[in-house]
Amino acid sequence: MSIRNIEKIWLDGELKSNEDAVVHCATNTLHYGLGVFEGIRSYSDGENSYIFRLDEHVKRLFDSALIMNITIPYTHDEVKRAIEDTIVANNLKEAYIKPMVYLGSESLSLDTREHTVHLMVIAWSAYNYASNGAQGIKMNVSSFTRHHVNIAMTKAKANGNYMNSQLALREAKNAGVDDVFLLDSDGYVSEATGANVFMVSNGVLYTPELANCLNGLTRQTVMQLAKDAGIEVVSKRITRDELYIADEVFITGTAAEILPVCEIDNRTVGKGCVGELTQSFINDYQLMVRAKLPNYTRWNYKLNIL
Ligand SMILES: Cc1ncc(COP(=O)(O)O)c(C=O)c1O
Repeated sequence: MSIRNIEKIWLDGELKSNEDAVVHCATNTLHYGLGVFEGIRSYSDGENSYIFRLDEHVKRLFDSALIMNITIPYTHDEVKRAIEDTIVANNLKEAYIKPMVYLGSESLSLDTREHTVHLMVIAWSAYNYASNGAQGIKMNVSSFTRHHVNIAMTKAKANGNYMNSQLALREAKNAGVDDVFLLDSDGYVSEATGANVFMVSNGVLYTPELANCLNGLTRQTVMQLAKDAGIEVVSKRITRDELYIADEVFITGTAAEILPVCEIDNRTVGKGCVGELTQSFINDYQLMVRAKLPNYTRWNYKLNIL
């Protein structure tokens, strides 16, 4: 389903038709990027549909807003209901869902203290982070640096932060690779354009510490899976050459899910195919998001879709 074919969009409390769900040209967020959003996914087991880690996504939306000094005019439960209503209204059995909080069109001033705050929820049926993902993707190290912690901050999923990702991704695609690793301002690996990073070395799972990257829910999920399987998990500073010589590298995100990386900067990673641990995380994750792993069903929010 293309975005243009979406039937209903939730906008400020109402489910509107695609044509009617519009915002004003002077929408402050459109001009300067101060807004926050989430990327959430629902999955079907063939019978029922479930949103994965809905509460944690909504909590992060509120955390992002707090970081950006925006007060969301809805409660946590109202945002959950808006998300659920949008999926049901579009009858989506599996969906990518994007709630976005933005500032109104009262003025184009940089002083946003008096602006109204709005919420939209868009849901559609597909999100393909990388077309050839299952076999492993190719990545480079980007020429762009990730945001400094005291410039844009990285714990918020803030609209404007993604200009950096868009520039880096365009450069990646033009260079013929699927995605890039952005390094932080000290030169250590932070994250991909829309995903967190993991590597496996000698049976230990490593991921960059949280200082310069988003606290991804898929990152947290994989770390939990690993710990529950008795695998040692270490978050630490990681250099680009550590990635080159790792046994396995993969990236994680709601959109990306778990994507194996088979080549970095023209160097083959490990055996050049999907690593054993990576594959087992992929298998578990695909079962888990469909409520088929009994130990983790607390993360599956069941939807009322016929
Ligand atoms: C910059 C960035 N890092 C990491 C992630 C992964 O986060 P999550 O697993 O919560 O989707 C995302 C995806 O939303 C992202 O945009």
